[in-house]
Amino acid sequence: MHPMLNIAVKAARRAGNLIYRSADKIDHLTITKKSHADFVSEVDRAAEQVIMETLLEAYPSHAILAEESGSHGESEYLWIIDPLDGTTNFLHGFPQFAVSIALEHKGVLTQAVIYDPVRNELFTATRGQGAYLNDKRIRVSKRLHMADALIGTGFPYSNFQHMDAYLAILKDVMQKSSGLRRPGSAALDLAWMAAGRYDGFFETGLKAWDIAAGCLLITEAGGMVSDLVGKDSYIKTGHICAGNPEIHPQLLKLMAPHLSDALKG
Ligand code: IPD
Ligand code: CA
Ligand code: CA
Repeated sequence: MHPMLNIAVKAARRAGNLIYRSADKIDHLTITKKSHADFVSEVDRAAEQVIMETLLEAYPSHAILAEESGSHGESEYLWIIDPLDGTTNFLHGFPQFAVSIALEHKGVLTQAVIYDPVRNELFTATRGQGAYLNDKRIRVSKRLHMADALIGTGFPYSNFQHMDAYLAILKDVMQKSSGLRRPGSAALDLAWMAAGRYDGFFETGLKAWDIAAGCLLITEAGGMVSDLVGKDSYIKTGHICAGNPEIHPQLLKLMAPHLSDALKG
């Protein structure tokens, strides 16, 4: 395992264990509202702290972009961290949340870890070396047709700017696919896409820390990731469409007539 991935795994496991241990104390946590339906708990912050300490102990000169505390330092190495993806689930005892850590080197994603502490599933990838679940190589699904495809998504919950376009897409996907899921952790959705559990995924308005690790996992598992018009501005816009090589173009085609100019990037 690449030494930088090894450190990221150590950080993700430490944070995941902390989150898991806190899951039976949710009624006693300090919770703050960031905006409508957007909460942060002391567990999010403590997990972020533990991840940053672990990464910076090994690589003190590296820069960090972390959801709760923002940007730290300047370097050609940038760690992109979501300490707890799926906070709403976590706060309701709904067991679908994860830690997500990615490393960008000179603007290119090179390492990725997503850790699900509930199932003890560790998803990892190094650029050019494939994607893994625990120690087994994973690949995206081989399903060919939208009518057989299971599609994941995330509903808009705080910013309703793209609601009409989103609902039109949802209606179409609902009628043309074999099923739709919204479990509530974008990072895990992307990891599951890489593992072949979904055949396609789309969401609008995500942040770099929600998707950086998941995107590398998917491409290393043989999948495709783009924005909603097939271009690569997804880390910047947060509008994302992923799929296996057969379903990805079908999903883009299905979305095209519904996209507003804002969603075209
Ligand atoms: C959220 C989850 C959710 C997605 C939201 C994200 P958070 O992350 O990934 O699935 O729909 O847009 O903000 O806030 O729980 O880290
Ligand atoms: Ca998140
Ligand atoms: Ca988060």
